[in-house]
Amino acid sequence: MKFGVLTGGGDCPGLNPAIRAVVLRAARAGHETLGFLDGWKGVRDDLTRPLLPTDVTGLIGRGGTVLGSSRTNPFGREADAAKVLETLDRHRLDALIAIGGDDTLSAALELHRRGGRVVGVPKTMDNDVTGTDWTFGFHSATAVAVDALERLRDTAGSHHRAIVLEVMGRHAGWVALATGLAGGADATLVPEEGYDESALLARVRAAVHARGYALVVASEGIDLGPRRGSAGAKDEFGHELLRERQVGVELARRIEESTGIETRSAQIGHIQRGGAPELFDRILATRLGAHAVDLALAGRFGEVAVLRGEVVTGIPLADAVGTSKVVTPAWLDLLHTFDA
Ligand code: F6P
Repeated sequence: MKFGVLTGGGDCPGLNPAIRAVVLRAARAGHETLGFLDGWKGVRDDLTRPLLPTDVTGLIGRGGTVLGSSRTNPFGREADAAKVLETLDRHRLDALIAIGGDDTLSAALELHRRGGRVVGVPKTMDNDVTGTDWTFGFHSATAVAVDALERLRDTAGSHHRAIVLEVMGRHAGWVALATGLAGGADATLVPEEGYDESALLARVRAAVHARGYALVVASEGIDLGPRRGSAGAKDEFGHELLRERQVGVELARRIEESTGIETRSAQIGHIQRGGAPELFDRILATRLGAHAVDLALAGRFGEVAVLRGEVVTGIPLADAVGTSKVVTPAWLDLLHTFDA
């Protein structure tokens, strides 16, 4: 068989281990793999590189993706869709492994509906793909955010300030939730809950009163209501670029104005997406990449490899895309146990 593999959407730690797993699992079964460059753009425009087992040496611990990535939507225009199918035919591919988040997997589902032999692998630092317990990238990215919060604790304490840390996560609050829980924030704001300014200010005041400083974690996706400066720039899938809304800066301004407590903010942005994958992400990416090859070998196209409890299995792509997995009430209940 001849396999193809691509990585699409925002990069995250674990993509390289997943590519390595696809190539080595396929090679172990006697099959070759072709890499497509820059996500679906590489399939549309026929940008490829061969991936031999020697090409993936050392990828287990490397951040980013050696294949490159993009947010290209290959089915946005019919002319592009035709080019995708032509490329796959030209290379006589028997199976395409698409590694990505909701947008990339939605395109994979569309390809499947048009007769393409495709299997998905879920990834995203946002941890918001439905149908899998975890996505790789999340643990590594959130560990960076926790480290940032701990650094902010030192300086907030020295200067008796409040500091707001803005983290990524799009419209799911998993990164903020885990950062707040693991970093001991005094208040954590996630998109799944309405913004309650008086509750936030009360927590900041209580923390400063108790020990002289306050730490707030805010997800980039929270809705602060109408305000100035929303740039509204969108990507090819129509998603707003949330970091441009700068909710951390705005929150710091509001806290300082209302409480008189000196307040700063930090937006760590893409720093969260770089660096070596952590242990959990290396193992999960390896398992899912290998399982995607197994699904293709078994003819189970149109499925996506997922983690359910301790087990890696396949589910229909249609069951994994279109809706985001968001933070549940039970997690929010735990989170608020530790509010100031
Ligand atoms: O979906 C992953 C993610 O990192 C989000 O958390 C964030 O909103 C977005 O990508 C940023 O996208 P870009 O890399 O295109 O700026």
